[in-house]
Amino acid sequence: MTSEAKAEINLTDEILSVGVCDVFRAGVESMTVAMYWTVLYMSAFPEIQEKVRTEVDDKISDNYDNAHKLPYLQAVMHEVYRFSSLTPFAKRTVGDSLTLADGTFIPKGTSVLLNLWALSRDPNVWNEPYKFNPDNFLKPDGSFDGSKVEKMMPFGYGMRRCPGEGSFKVLMPMLTAALMSNFVIEPPSGVTPDLEPLFGISLSPKPYKVVLKPRH
Ligand code: HEM
Repeated sequence: MTSEAKAEINLTDEILSVGVCDVFRAGVESMTVAMYWTVLYMSAFPEIQEKVRTEVDDKISDNYDNAHKLPYLQAVMHEVYRFSSLTPFAKRTVGDSLTLADGTFIPKGTSVLLNLWALSRDPNVWNEPYKFNPDNFLKPDGSFDGSKVEKMMPFGYGMRRCPGEGSFKVLMPMLTAALMSNFVIEPPSGVTPDLEPLFGISLSPKPYKVVLKPRH
């Protein structure tokens, strides 16, 4: 951008570098935690892991660019976003004072947290919401059920919705497909994977170990 164009929108070098840092931090943290969850779930649910591997072996060779088009892997990835609820809240500031249906008054300027976690556990939408089940995102014919995606909001909503969602939804299946086709993931002998999260700004798994067995 020219310096005139920057001045027009008050874009200083400082704002730009803080913005770039924000994107990196938000991206690296969430991607890392999402990968931790994926590996942990795969170690905990070997049948699901094997179904992903069979689909990857059957449908793609060593180029994972189109992994996000594999229906079962898509369903598994969305179930990872739903079940881990790794970003449990989104923050909003109330623009105009409002009164809720139950009479609660919320003044202008109040900070509110949207409970994204609860949406991913709504028993009216999800069959057995406290169980990891990729079938939540599959139609009876085995194709990916996109209609279920908008029933949850792991990436937030509206103007402030996560700007990383699109690239993330392509990258995660690529990484997972590559992992599945090269390794079998198992818990260490005698260990039952602990799926309870550590509470924080993001929900991450407790530190854990897995065994990666090379397939080739
Ligand atoms: C599992 C992956 C991710 C999840 C679950 C996630 C989730 C979220 C959520 C819930 C929000 C708040 C949205 C709202 O307030 O409505 C958010 C914001 C944001 N995310 Fe992500 N995100 C992920 C990956 C990424 C990646 C890969 C990037 C960057 C490349 C990124 C960058 C950001 C940024 C910059 C914001 C702030 C947007 C704003 O406040 O206007 N995120 N994300």
